[in-house]
Amino acid sequence: MRAAVLRDYDKGLQVEEIPTPRARAGEVLVKVSACGLCHSDLHVIGGAIAFPLPCVLGHEVAGEIVEVGPGNEHNELEVGQRVAGAFLMPCGQCEACAEGRDDLCAPFFDLNRIQGKLYDGETRLFEEDGSPIAMYSMGGLAEYCVIPSTSVTPVPENIDPVSGAILGCAAMTAYGAVRRGADLRYGESVAVVATGGVGSNIIQIAKAFGAKQIIAIDVSDEKLEAARALGATDVVNSAKENVREAVFSKTGGRGVDVAFEALGRPQTWNSALDALRDGGRMVPIGLGAGVQTAEVEINRTVRRSQSILGSYGALTRQDLPEVVRMASNGSIHYEEIVTRRFSLDEVAEGYDLLRKGEIQGRGVVDMSL
Ligand SMILES: NC(=O)c1ccc[n+]([C@@H]2O[C@H](COP(=O)([O-])OP(=O)(O)OC[C@H]3O[C@@H](n4cnc5c(N)ncnc54)[C@H](O)[C@@H]3O)[C@@H](O)[C@H]2O)c1
Ligand SMILES: [Zn+2]
Ligand SMILES: [Zn+2]
Repeated sequence: MRAAVLRDYDKGLQVEEIPTPRARAGEVLVKVSACGLCHSDLHVIGGAIAFPLPCVLGHEVAGEIVEVGPGNEHNELEVGQRVAGAFLMPCGQCEACAEGRDDLCAPFFDLNRIQGKLYDGETRLFEEDGSPIAMYSMGGLAEYCVIPSTSVTPVPENIDPVSGAILGCAAMTAYGAVRRGADLRYGESVAVVATGGVGSNIIQIAKAFGAKQIIAIDVSDEKLEAARALGATDVVNSAKENVREAVFSKTGGRGVDVAFEALGRPQTWNSALDALRDGGRMVPIGLGAGVQTAEVEINRTVRRSQSILGSYGALTRQDLPEVVRMASNGSIHYEEIVTRRFSLDEVAEGYDLLRKGEIQGRGVVDMSL
């Protein structure tokens, strides 16, 4: 099969032929119809977050099941079923998974995120000579990928096979932040700092959960205009305006109940904390480029009883089906978030544009191109 392989940071992603993988116990093999280009991959491509090489990235996929491994007798997955695949792949067997905390699955972190393997301690991707190729999540930037059955959910006919790829990371992460991280209540006000692929989904999902005011904060006027079309009631360009003054003037001097941070830089943490009201919740989702720290004003946080509630992905087994349901019934207009489609051969160009901040919403690799 063809796959985008990262062997060398200087050469970047290169499309090559590697052997097509096979599903093992509790897994399915998916023929990928599309894979989203997420900012998290940029950290690995640039070497800021350590990951074994060679590897295949891509963690946000839609496709069709072409093989069901053994041990899938008690689920509804079958060959020919169209599915969405989630980046956060719970093993289903560890203590965290038993408690329903898919986001804390230890084998996911230890075996997949650190070693690029699945839960029997091996990758499913190999060179012609049998040497291993690491997989970041399922390694979705390829014609086929193996996904644990815990981390795929069937999608109905009306889900687009290309833009539907973003459900498994951008949309699910946003759902996790709104529903689990913030536990957003009807009528609350929110700010969304950084309105890229993930931030755009937060806007839509916060709206679906009944947020009364949604203030989009970004450094690009174009992205802020797009944010308005997705449901933002107000916009602030943080490159031109003082965030605290702008947000407080738009909220009657109060600040927002919940501020989401979706970039992972010290300045976006400042923006989110500056937008917050007394007693408010700040929900950071952005991942730093390696070990990064942000400054938090101690006395303001303490005296104003503010909370910082980190949110990683979502509870895949419960939340991915719900995200698919929201997409299917029109509560999330995921198709409007996907503005660019690249062929697999153009994947490096897609990430270059993402790095330069030139992709509005989300770009995806469309395997049919
Ligand atoms: N927690 C999780 O589970 C999870 C999941 C997916 C992605 N992520 C992380 O979320 C972050 C966002 O990912 P994405 O794919 O949406 O990124 P993206 O590249 O699509 O969007 C980034 C946005 O940030 C804006 N921006 C740049 N500088 C800014 C500034 N100073 N202030 C405000 N906005 C600014 C850009 O204009 C762009 O709209 C990344 O850090 C990624 O690693 C986390
Ligand atoms: Zn992602
Ligand atoms: Zn687990």
